[in-house]
Amino acid sequence: MSKMIDLRSDTVTLPSDKMREAITGAKLGDDVFGEDPTINELEAKAAKIMGKEQGLLVPSGTMGNLVSILVHCQRGTEIILGDKSHTFMYEAGGISAFGGIHSRQLKNQADGTINIEDIHFAIRTDNVHFPKTAAITLENTHNLCNGVPLLPEYIHEVAQIAHNNNMKLHIDGARIFNASVAQTLDVAKLVIDADSVTFCLSKGLSAPVGSIVCGSGEFIYEARRIRKALGGGMRQAGIIAAAGIFSLDNMLDQIKEDHQNAKQLVEGINQIEGLSIDHENIKTNILYFDIEKGKPRCDELSQQTQNIDIYPFEIQLDNIRFFESQPSRFRLVTHYGITGDEIEKTLLVLGHMLK
Ligand SMILES: Cc1ncc(COP(=O)(O)O)c(C=O)c1O
Repeated sequence: MSKMIDLRSDTVTLPSDKMREAITGAKLGDDVFGEDPTINELEAKAAKIMGKEQGLLVPSGTMGNLVSILVHCQRGTEIILGDKSHTFMYEAGGISAFGGIHSRQLKNQADGTINIEDIHFAIRTDNVHFPKTAAITLENTHNLCNGVPLLPEYIHEVAQIAHNNNMKLHIDGARIFNASVAQTLDVAKLVIDADSVTFCLSKGLSAPVGSIVCGSGEFIYEARRIRKALGGGMRQAGIIAAAGIFSLDNMLDQIKEDHQNAKQLVEGINQIEGLSIDHENIKTNILYFDIEKGKPRCDELSQQTQNIDIYPFEIQLDNIRFFESQPSRFRLVTHYGITGDEIEKTLLVLGHMLK
């Protein structure tokens, strides 16, 4: 049987043999006592790369965002976020469930930004009727907006507005390295104005588990307490951190290849009659494409999708797996383990999606 080509997400990556060796050889200790040397090394390395004072290993990107927002926002305060942001859409409402934080969702533009005017307008004045606006989050790259990278000038402008209004800026940088590679910019430049950033080791960097939160020493001190309260204080998690160190040392070049593979997909899909794609604006490893209105699906696709009422819905055509994210809109994500030949194979299969 031919190998499954899994383009559902970059979270499906498996550790390489060398990464597994790094895991096996990791020096361990109890991290809740601050004694795991591998975690300490990873956190220091991540902080240095991000240009921040300290880092903190957390089990997931979701926990990284939650911990950061819980540090920035007191109960009953408000946070501004995009209506397509991962934190608003896919983090189980954690900021409101565990933090009592009111979310103010503003429209995400196709380029992943929130309109600057909308941000100004949303910041509350001091009035007994209103919650205080305590923070804003940006997502870079923006998952639901074609994996678009945000420009540093835009981030700077948002940070200035936040800081002028006594608010904090958090960046959900689950894929911040994709943003830095796409713009050939040092990643630290993309987060220089942020009070905190979360990035994931377990996506394009292909580690099995883990994300890192970075910020000032004072911020990380509080973040560590909240991580503990959420049950995220891990003991000999140097096992995980060893993979993270390997990722930061060895996997950044892979991201370039992932972007190249995505570009090849975009160009191919753009040539397929009946499919449409925003081919000029896809710059990283996530892409969405649509079936044009009125075009009939091939039998294999329509059999799988005839009774769908829940999205995203998982599709398998031949040995290619991906998501239908909304009706007639599909997502593909390139990542470590996907070869150029497999991209060609994927395009052949997509070429037969329609009748
Ligand atoms: C933009 C973004 N933020 C945060 C997360 C959450 O990461 P995790 O799945 O590790 O909780 C994801 C996951 O896909 C994501 O795409």
